[in-house]
Amino acid sequence: MQTRRKFLKAGCIHCAAMLGAGMLLESCSSGIHLYKAPSASPRLMVPLQEFMPDKNMIIVRTKDLENDILLVKKGEHYNALYLQCTHEGVGLSAMATKIVCTAHGSVFDLDGNVVKEPALKPLRKFETTLIENNVLINLT
Ligand code: FES
Repeated sequence: MQTRRKFLKAGCIHCAAMLGAGMLLESCSSGIHLYKAPSASPRLMVPLQEFMPDKNMIIVRTKDLENDILLVKKGEHYNALYLQCTHEGVGLSAMATKIVCTAHGSVFDLDGNVVKEPALKPLRKFETTLIENNVLINLT
């Protein structure tokens, strides 16, 4: 027969394991830093310090757009890709090496090009400019 103390101890260990598993799943969902940009249409300013060390991309969220922007550092240039599928307009999920649409399976590379159909058109790209320690994303 289990004592009350043993029952509570077993319950606490189980809860801690569940909490740990939940945190692990959350960190695996994207692993890409999210920057919430202040509303500043038609231009968003993203401080370079938002890029984590050894990471070449961040997700930029603003109330000015329905979907997020994936900002990818490529050498001295920055790609600002609108995370909306060009097939039927569904929001996209960014991963370390690609961008995927869970609706019908389209895949895009980190330049916004179609890697796998049914999408046929590349992702919308916003013009970027590097000014001092900020990337300016032109939303027009
Ligand atoms: S909406 Fe993305 S593949 Fe169809």
